[in-house]
Amino acid sequence: MSSTDQAAIEKRRGAFSSRNVFIFAAIGSAVGLGNIWRFPMEAYENGGGAFLLPYLIALLTAGIPFLLLDYVMGHRTRGSAPLAFARTHRKTEWLGWWQVGICFVIALYYAAILAWALRYTLFSADKGWGDDPNAFFGGEFLQASDPTKGISTEFVIGLLVPLVIVWLAVIVIMMLGVQKGVGNTAMIFIPVLILAFLALVIRSLFLPGAADGLNALFTPDWSALTDTGVWAAAYSQIFFSLSIGFGIMITYASYVGRKVDMTGSGLVVGFANSSFELLCGIGVFSALGFMAQAQGVAINEVASGGPGLAFVAFPTIINEAPAGVVIGLLFFASLILAGITSLVSILEVVISAIRDKFEMSRIGATMAVCIPAAAISVFFFSTKSALHVLDIADNFINKFGILFVAVVSMVVLVWIVRALPDFVEHLTTHGSVPIRGWWPALIAVVTPLALTFVLISDFVDTIKEPYGGYPTWMIATFGWGVVAAVIFGGVAASLVKWRPETSLDIPGPIDEGTAPIKEENR
Ligand code: PHE
Repeated sequence: MSSTDQAAIEKRRGAFSSRNVFIFAAIGSAVGLGNIWRFPMEAYENGGGAFLLPYLIALLTAGIPFLLLDYVMGHRTRGSAPLAFARTHRKTEWLGWWQVGICFVIALYYAAILAWALRYTLFSADKGWGDDPNAFFGGEFLQASDPTKGISTEFVIGLLVPLVIVWLAVIVIMMLGVQKGVGNTAMIFIPVLILAFLALVIRSLFLPGAADGLNALFTPDWSALTDTGVWAAAYSQIFFSLSIGFGIMITYASYVGRKVDMTGSGLVVGFANSSFELLCGIGVFSALGFMAQAQGVAINEVASGGPGLAFVAFPTIINEAPAGVVIGLLFFASLILAGITSLVSILEVVISAIRDKFEMSRIGATMAVCIPAAAISVFFFSTKSALHVLDIADNFINKFGILFVAVVSMVVLVWIVRALPDFVEHLTTHGSVPIRGWWPALIAVVTPLALTFVLISDFVDTIKEPYGGYPTWMIATFGWGVVAAVIFGGVAASLVKWRPETSLDIPGPIDEGTAPIKEENR
């Protein structure tokens, strides 16, 4: 294939216009709810200040190495996840589709959380949650049904409307394409997010009780380091937080020009994400310190993560703090900005895959993916059962979807397909950071062992105690059922034939003389 043919293909698939856009988009994907509502609580519960050590080790021994593996897969093959795997080795295509399936499932409920944040942004203007945010969230807002009584198909209009709005907004972004949609959204949202969150941190630091919150978060409990659960928590956090191992970074790297420094970019993204994560810890625990003091209780009584932090603790803080409205707007706006760029990244994995496989137009592929996704998302996540289905699906897909596919792909690529020497070669010629020696050793041995250990420890925990006390059939359907469905779906999708015009060879170098590639949205 000549270099002009390749330039034409790249033009059709879309591309980021510069290294900066790629880095912002990658940071936009990485920085999300995991930073804001997951990290602070994980750190607090797993040794406080001492957690930073396993966390840093996990970043260096698994996070950044795996990020580079994703980068080389996408950059070298210039394909979405399934195409990247197929071009690396024909028989591995199903792994790419497995990753696509995981992204599809996550998108369904991630959108719902954004919809809730949207409602709460409005509530924070006039404290619409009343005096008891806890009762309000499960009651008036979600109208959560009793999970033991089965699944409710009754819609809640207050969940439905914002969810439809979120989907419409995201569909517009996705239709605009790689640079104009995904790239520009990140270029605008990420700087605004950093400013908004910095303002929130500064405001929180000046609240009475903030210092107690920070002490509670950072006081190290060194004995935690002998607990294997703490190490498992650190590796899981890094994985989820960096959006690695399930197609996102493969897809983004496939849109990057040949001359971009991939290894240097990986370090920037890895450290930027962790820095933001630390900032989130500081902001969240200062605010929780204030809440504990205002209520005259210990920090451990108010500390929370996930929806409990965003939709119960923060509304309480906003009710009690001076100028609470400002805190509310900054907090929920941050959640939305961080969340949209992550949602866009997971949808891009699916759209890009469909586009590559069927040689579809951007708009056609966006519709083919987003309309069914929006319909399923609305069907499950604007009913009275929304919270339960979300909680189960999220827990299982994180543990036995993301981590599982990551370990399997890594082992297949390194030990079965033996692609590592080619990868080292590519990263060496397309990067400024020397990776020979250390990187292959980490990817071949250390990272897979660490992840297998986490996977087994999660599995043992889940078998010992049914998750969250839900009825068994619900866990079997929305937990294990979903995990299995994405694997079988992946294998099935890989049996579909590629279009005759799609080449499964690794593309050669593009004539470097060609002007920067502009995307066509045909
Ligand atoms: N990395 C994102 C975060 O920290 C999480 C994420 C999960 C992003 C799934 C995309 C897909 O929140």
